[in-house]
Amino acid sequence: MAHQVTRNLFAQVLDEASRPDPYPLYALLRETPVARQGNDLYAVSTYAEIVSLLYDPRVSSDERKSRSGSGSFGASGRLMGGEDGQNARKPAFIFLDPPDHDRLRRIVMRHFTPERVDRLGRHMSSLVAELLDRRAGHDSMDVVDDLAYPLPVTVICELLGVPKEDEPRFHGWASALARTLDPPEGLSAEEVRQAEAAAPELHAYLVDLAGERHARPADDLLSALLTDRAAERMDGPEIIATMALLLIAGHETTVNLIANGMLTFLRNPDALARLRADPGLIVPAVEEVLRYDPPVQFRTRTTLADIEIAGVTIPQGADVALLLASGSRDPARFPGADRFDPGRRDNQHLGFGGGVHYCVGAPLARIEARAALGALVGRLVGPELAADPPPYRHSASLRGPERLVVGFDRLL
Ligand code: HEM
Repeated sequence: MAHQVTRNLFAQVLDEASRPDPYPLYALLRETPVARQGNDLYAVSTYAEIVSLLYDPRVSSDERKSRSGSGSFGASGRLMGGEDGQNARKPAFIFLDPPDHDRLRRIVMRHFTPERVDRLGRHMSSLVAELLDRRAGHDSMDVVDDLAYPLPVTVICELLGVPKEDEPRFHGWASALARTLDPPEGLSAEEVRQAEAAAPELHAYLVDLAGERHARPADDLLSALLTDRAAERMDGPEIIATMALLLIAGHETTVNLIANGMLTFLRNPDALARLRADPGLIVPAVEEVLRYDPPVQFRTRTTLADIEIAGVTIPQGADVALLLASGSRDPARFPGADRFDPGRRDNQHLGFGGGVHYCVGAPLARIEARAALGALVGRLVGPELAADPPPYRHSASLRGPERLVVGFDRLL
């Protein structure tokens, strides 16, 4: 019976009813660090085991190497960039292993420089101020629609060189494709259809945009990749796949960090008071949100060999869910793991993953979240949640509120 319950836990995590609070399920899963959840599916929930597999070269991010063919985690690699003979589509590097992954990531990093991030960071606080000022004279805001979503979207468009006016078009494509990061049993037939439709549309849009930038290069990442003359550079399909990945990552993650952060602060009035009294505390507080309630709850992998870990042999070709959010709540690694402590030190959370796929956008996401959450804490007088828990978005792996309505007395 106990075995049966363990087997169903990951399916319960995927169930929408668990979206507001998956953490008790993770605690149960940690009783079996590496738990078989189905024929070829293993859930890994403890910190040490997750880190070990993140750094293990026998653990692949390439779904095509899964025994279940496209991977029991579905069509994400194929659709997000994806390989398609006719349209010469290639997978984005998040779905590739070394050495291909390393080559593509190296090229991006040559252009996605600290200087570029600095430049975006310089007007972050004025962007935040502009968005918040629109709520002056009101007594409530939706943190998601009014700030958490538009801020990172504006920034990623500027970074990549995507016209902000086109945003309504790729908003839907980005969320449809991000859904495919969940295992297929978590998706409705309609969601699968939407993702299948979004993939070629986003691809065609990016190919058009690349044509324009090729003719008239500007100071953005797309132009930089297109005009790259280094010996090691990307071909056209690689550039399109990378753009799709960055665009989706920029749309579907930071929004949840800001919304999860504000929700956590409002549920912890002592933490909120500490942050008000000491604005510098926002830096460790954002790290603590990344540990305590992270935007990316889990990532998936495939084993290239039999791997023995925590007394279990994961067979070659199995699918593995690395439950990053559970690892960051592991009491064996973090004292008082279920307590939100904005001043926590020694906070090596798994919010941005680890190993060769460690998040490329982490420095940018940190700047965005500090600016947005710092301003919300500093400017909202008497903030109060309209609904607790708030309504959540469908996705289990990229998890966050759909809306976060906060009432307030005044906006400073
Ligand atoms: C709070 C916001 C964000 C969070 C929590 C986050 C989290 C993550 C995580 C957990 C991974 C590892 C994936 C894996 O191991 O399979 C990752 C990878 C990645 N992230 Fe982020 N991310 C965020 C924002 C961003 C932004 C803004 C960008 C783009 C500018 C970005 C671009 C990427 C890319 C390109 C990868 C793939 C790296 C690789 O495969 O080498 N992320 N992110």
